[in-house]
Amino acid sequence: MKNKIDLLLKKNQRGEKITMLTAYDFPFASVIDSCGIDIILVGDSLANVVLGLKSTKEVGMAEMLHHTKAVRRAVKNAMLLGDMPFNSYQRHSEDAVKNAKRFIVEAGCDAVKLEWFDDCLAVTRNIVKAGIPVMGHVGLTPQTADKLGGYKVQGKDAVSARRIIEQAQALEKAGCFSIVLECVPDQLAAEITKKLKIPTIGIGAGPHCDGQVLVTYDLLGMFSTFHPKFAKQYVDLSALMKKGVEQFRKEVESGKFPDKAHSFTMPKEEWRKVK
Ligand code: KIV
Repeated sequence: MKNKIDLLLKKNQRGEKITMLTAYDFPFASVIDSCGIDIILVGDSLANVVLGLKSTKEVGMAEMLHHTKAVRRAVKNAMLLGDMPFNSYQRHSEDAVKNAKRFIVEAGCDAVKLEWFDDCLAVTRNIVKAGIPVMGHVGLTPQTADKLGGYKVQGKDAVSARRIIEQAQALEKAGCFSIVLECVPDQLAAEITKKLKIPTIGIGAGPHCDGQVLVTYDLLGMFSTFHPKFAKQYVDLSALMKKGVEQFRKEVESGKFPDKAHSFTMPKEEWRKVK
């Protein structure tokens, strides 16, 4: 576990950018891992992009562990990061440590991620004290988006920008090994990156972070409910899937599939006996 963190920190010290993507199941995690991505996050974005729910607050430990275990079976090289779901660490500090341990022991994660909330520093310190590496998350924190005026860019004025800088510094001091900056102006992300010793991973935070993360379904064109400005789409996997599925339907309806190449045949003699 420590080794994965050390490798990541060394990569950052060499000035190389860190890559992080989300995965929620075995096949996607296999592909992502084979591409040399540094960190695979089983994000609570599971709620939106896989389960069709409105808010990340709607998934709990059971769903997160179920999907994380599937991802674990696929990941051979990347650091595996479990996203602590809403109410798994906000209510009681003992619950937070217990739930963080479940990500490590039951689901095989290397580390956990948690979002900023009012009492997150004590919680972070306790999880770190239990020997579990923690990645922080500031800026737009979806689990508390209602308190931040919704899914909006954060830190656009001096007061809130300063607050986010302080939060990032406090999380570093509490023992986080890295921190996600979500949806903040690029100058603010650059300043935080300059001020912190630990690597910053940006999403909608401009080019100056130490690394970048995207929700995989966004970059593959597999999520159409909403398109954040920062979510660059690299391929249109939905269109490709649609093409395959439609072709299957047409071939079944026309009798073209299955053909001989995709069927099994019994030796004629055996078949005669059956008849
Ligand atoms: O849940 C998630 O996918 C995340 C990323 C956006 C960082 O937290």
